[in-house]
Amino acid sequence: MGSSEKTILVTGGAGFIGTHTVVQLLNDGYRVSIIDNLDNSVIEAVHRVKDLVGPELSQKLDFNLGDLRNRDDLEKLFPKTKFDAVIHFAGLKAVAESVGNPRRYFDNNLIGTINLYEVMAKYNRKKMVFSSSATVYGQPEKIPCVEDFELKAMNPYGRTKLFLEEIARDIQKAEPDWSIILLRYFNPVGAHESGKIGEDPKCCSNRGIPNNLMPYIQQVAVGRLPELNVFGHDYPTKDGSAVCSRLHPCYGLADGHIAAVRKLFSSENIGCIAYNLGTGSGTSVLEMVAAFEKASGKKIPIKLCPRRPGDATAVYASTEKAQKELGWKAKYGIAEMCKDQWKWASNNPWGYQSKP
Ligand code: NAD
Ligand code: WQD
Repeated sequence: MGSSEKTILVTGGAGFIGTHTVVQLLNDGYRVSIIDNLDNSVIEAVHRVKDLVGPELSQKLDFNLGDLRNRDDLEKLFPKTKFDAVIHFAGLKAVAESVGNPRRYFDNNLIGTINLYEVMAKYNRKKMVFSSSATVYGQPEKIPCVEDFELKAMNPYGRTKLFLEEIARDIQKAEPDWSIILLRYFNPVGAHESGKIGEDPKCCSNRGIPNNLMPYIQQVAVGRLPELNVFGHDYPTKDGSAVCSRLHPCYGLADGHIAAVRKLFSSENIGCIAYNLGTGSGTSVLEMVAAFEKASGKKIPIKLCPRRPGDATAVYASTEKAQKELGWKAKYGIAEMCKDQWKWASNNPWGYQSKP
């Protein structure tokens, strides 16, 4: 069966990584159904996806407003469409919020995913790609992170990813007809090259202030925030700031999901298997600032601050396994990622909304 006859259910498909992956799935000929409760996204993002792929391919996309915590919302979808695979992005992802409100994270990420497995099992749809995270490596003792490292979680968000990986392994072990690919993402930077879709965090912000580096830099560049706090300037790294692995949402993450879906359809007995989606070297916080300044032509004022608790000195990925078994490698360097992120930011300084 070619990709044109296959239908993928994408949970959380209105979100940052979801929208970029949906564009690529449609361009590759798949039919796509999204289920999203729009907790951290807006329907405008789905309209932009349709705009990007054009009228013909957008016929192959349907959006369903629904919450994975409501089993009924899933039960409505499965009888009417025979999903060939599920890509499961839906989840909450803000580390700091999870520390203050762990029950929200356990409820949303764990209950939502358990419901999804139940309904998939009931309708005998047993192929899944799951959004895991580099966070499952905790503070790695060695770098690069290799998939068989011991896993640790440092916060409630990270624990949901770790528990969900364990749940996936247990389910697949007990019921070997499941094929589950766990993708451990490192840090995405950039946006679709059109500048029409990109990251627009809602719940990941603390009173509108992003927790993560790139959304923060972006808001300084467009004048929404005055300066960037650089957390840590005394790390034993090339410039004293922390280092991590970055990849483009299209030419890293979306491509990685397409490769994983292809593997689900082309290989037997996959089992439950984890792959890093990252790069084999890292970039420091100060290097990211310099690259963004160059791409945007804007000065990003910085303030050197103490280290942020829980941050690692350097985290990056071994990508050998994904390269060998999925035929995937992240493309695009930091300069291109920053260029695309700036295009998104400068075209959409207030994200998908107009200025409040
Ligand atoms: P995002 O918040 O932009 O997208 C997640 C989407 O899921 C949102 O549209 C949200 O409304 C939806 N959602 C959340 N809970 C839901 C529920 N109960 N029912 C239905 N929809 C729900 O986040 P993202 O950056 O696109 O991340 C996607 C996935 O990748 C998440 O699981 C996240 O933990 C994981 N991940 C993200 C990163 C990152 O840095 N962005 C890194 C590693 C892993
Ligand atoms: C990167 C570096 C900060 C903000 C997160 C999640 C992880 C995964 C990927 C989902 C750190 C520094 C940041 C700022 C700064 N997501 N920084 N000033 O923490 O590596 O990873 O996203 O699974 O679980 O934790 O990303 O962008 O927050 O931080 O100096 O205003 O930038 O201290 O060294 P992180 P990040």
